[in-house]
Amino acid sequence: MNSAPLGIFDSGVGGLTVVRAVQELLPSEDILYLGDTARLPYGSKSPETIRHFADEDVRFLISKGVKAIVVACNTATAHALPQLREQYRIPILGVIEAGVEAALADERSERIGIIATRGTIRSHAYQHALALRRTGLMIHPQAAPLLVPLIEENWIDHPATRAVLKTYLDPLVEKGIDTLMLACTHYPLLIPVLREMLPDDVRLVDSATTCAEHLKRELTALELLKDANFEGGLQLYLTDLSEEFEALARQFLKRSPGRIQRAILGA
Ligand code: DGL
Repeated sequence: MNSAPLGIFDSGVGGLTVVRAVQELLPSEDILYLGDTARLPYGSKSPETIRHFADEDVRFLISKGVKAIVVACNTATAHALPQLREQYRIPILGVIEAGVEAALADERSERIGIIATRGTIRSHAYQHALALRRTGLMIHPQAAPLLVPLIEENWIDHPATRAVLKTYLDPLVEKGIDTLMLACTHYPLLIPVLREMLPDDVRLVDSATTCAEHLKRELTALELLKDANFEGGLQLYLTDLSEEFEALARQFLKRSPGRIQRAILGA
C-alpha cells in the first residue's frame, strides 16, 4: 500500500498549488491528480451538488488505487468532507483545518479577513473553525466569486483582476484586518498582486503548505509514507481537456504538467 499514489482532487487546476506543496515536502510520493474541469466552478453550486461531485471524484481516485486522498478544494472540503470521511475507510484530508491552523499560528492574529467562493463563505466552515479555536477574533468573510474565472482565464496581473480585487479587498482593509486567508486553492497565484495591493502589515495565509504538513503527519502516523529515495511521478487527470490548461497547469506547478489524461467519472 505504501507505494500506491496519493490522490488529490479539486474542481479545476487550483489544487495544483497543494500538489506543489506536497511534492516539495514529500518528493518521493507518487501523485494522481484529478481536476473536475468539466464541472468547474464548484463554488457557485448548491451543497447537495458539491457533495455529489466530491463523491464521484473520490470514487474515481479510489478506483485508481490511491492510498489516501486530499480534497484540495475549499468548497468541497466545506460541504463534503464530513460525509466523505464517514462513507469511505481510506484516509481523507481537507484544506480548511490546515488553513485555520496557519492563520492562528501567529498569536497576534486578531482581525481575520477571509476571501473564498460563495459556497465556502456560505458554509461558515472557516468562521466556525476559527471561532472554535480562538475566542475574541474579529472575522470578516468576503465572497469573491469572480476571482476563479479570472484566474482560470490566466488574467493574473490584469487591470480587470485588480479592479475586482479592489472591490473585494477595500471593505476588509477598512476593517483593519491583520490577516487575509486565501480560502480557495486558486488564490495563491494572486499573491504577488495581493502583496502590491494590501498594506505591508497584512499577513497572507494559504493552506497549501500546512495541508502538505498535515498529510505528512497523517501518513507517518498511519505508516503509509513511501519508502523510496527517488522522485515520485505525477499523473494528471481532467474531466475536460482544454488547450489553456497546460499553460495554466505549468503556472500552478512551476514546471511542465506532463501528459494529461481524460477522466470519465461515474463509470
Ligand atoms: N478550488 C475551489 C476552491 O478552493 C474554487 C474553484 C471552484 O469554485 O470550483 O474553493
